[in-house]
Amino acid sequence: MTLWHGRFGGRPADELLAYTVSLPFDRRLAADDLTGSRAHVRGLVRAGLLSADDGSILLAALDRVGVELDEGSFAVRPDDEDVHTAVERRVTEIAGAAGARLHTGRSRNDQVATDLRLFAKRELTGVGHLVVGLEQTLLGRAEAAGDAYLPGYTHLQRAQPVLLSHHLLAHAWALARDVDRLVDTRRRLDVSPLGAGALAGSSLPLDPDATAADLGFAARFDNSLDAVSDRDFVAESLFDLAMLGIHLSRLGEELVIWSSEEWGFATLADAYATGSSMLPQKKNPDIAELARGKAGRLIGDLTGFLATLKGLPLAYNRDLQEDKEPLFDALDQVRGGLVAMTGLWSSVELHLDRMKEAADTPAACAVDLAEWLVQRGTPFRDAHALVGGLVRDSMERHVPLAELVEAHPALGVAAVELLAPGVAVTRRSTPGGAGPAPVAVQMAALREGLAAQRRHLDR
Ligand code: ARG
Repeated sequence: MTLWHGRFGGRPADELLAYTVSLPFDRRLAADDLTGSRAHVRGLVRAGLLSADDGSILLAALDRVGVELDEGSFAVRPDDEDVHTAVERRVTEIAGAAGARLHTGRSRNDQVATDLRLFAKRELTGVGHLVVGLEQTLLGRAEAAGDAYLPGYTHLQRAQPVLLSHHLLAHAWALARDVDRLVDTRRRLDVSPLGAGALAGSSLPLDPDATAADLGFAARFDNSLDAVSDRDFVAESLFDLAMLGIHLSRLGEELVIWSSEEWGFATLADAYATGSSMLPQKKNPDIAELARGKAGRLIGDLTGFLATLKGLPLAYNRDLQEDKEPLFDALDQVRGGLVAMTGLWSSVELHLDRMKEAADTPAACAVDLAEWLVQRGTPFRDAHALVGGLVRDSMERHVPLAELVEAHPALGVAAVELLAPGVAVTRRSTPGGAGPAPVAVQMAALREGLAAQRRHLDR
């Protein structure tokens, strides 16, 4: 039997049920649906709309449904359209007459919005903790990297040497912003829609503030139409997850490049690499590539859902049922990606000798020569041209750059020292720069930041 059978002469067509049913995916909200219903029952008792006895009967029935769901013994019926229908149907089977009072003053419209917010609050927190875990892994690798350095790139061309720790921390800072965003989104979505009814509130003496408090929400809705039609929090969550997925993709791309024979900066642990079915010598970075590939899917989850929202009139429309699958998909994909990427980064072997070799080209110190001249009064543009000329000369005539520097009247033997391996990176001393002093500062800041992020997430 449907929840709306009174107004209808016959039962719904099988085609309608097949097309509109959401139970196969929204059963994931079952625990939150029960939580919302418990708060609603307590609210009905407080309002005098439900006797204390009926309240107890309903709460016990809700608990029993919870057990059945946990045990896997909950039997679905063909016309259980969605999780709310299924739970109410089963509660009524268990509770008898009291079951008919459960939905008093409530609509599935405020119910589903409540369920999804409870769900999102918890899930975003869980994802946030996984992100902090990956940040911690990168921080650990950065701490262990000591004074190792590698070429920093722009346009994927070697630019200037940077500390390996600095490079790894760059990814960690991006992830730190992801956690900030998740916490921020969670704060904004922390509003209870329960009591908005179908769209307009109720004639019954319900107290949405009390149910909001009961459910642990920071506030209740201000406008009932907005309460049942607002899915900003889903779109925002999807953006946060897509951005996070993009960061995982970029972290993955790093290892795809580093583990190539051409780069040779990294060797993946056997447990986190795959082989080829045909080429016996292959060791492939599939996790990293999938992280890159799945970012496309996460962007799709976001943009698809934004398109669903854009033309909707107030208030609830069934289109909104399309909020769940992209959200569930994005959460699952990002969780899986975070776990795999954390394993990948904690186990990858980094070849510091190869990194050093690639960074120790004299040309990578060209800007140091120019800045050395600037400190002695040469305008930067002139210094840039002078050093650029020496680099070109060195390449065309196959003369070591150091020789040309030593011979040049404006530079000389003192400037040659700048070209010695490992010197350039130590000279990046400005705040936030790639040298040892600023990196030690940012490392301490990130370490403290991680502890603060954990506290925010647990709040
Ligand atoms: N399954 C529906 C959804 O996810 C529940 C709300 C149904 N409301 C309605 N008026 N048909 O949005």
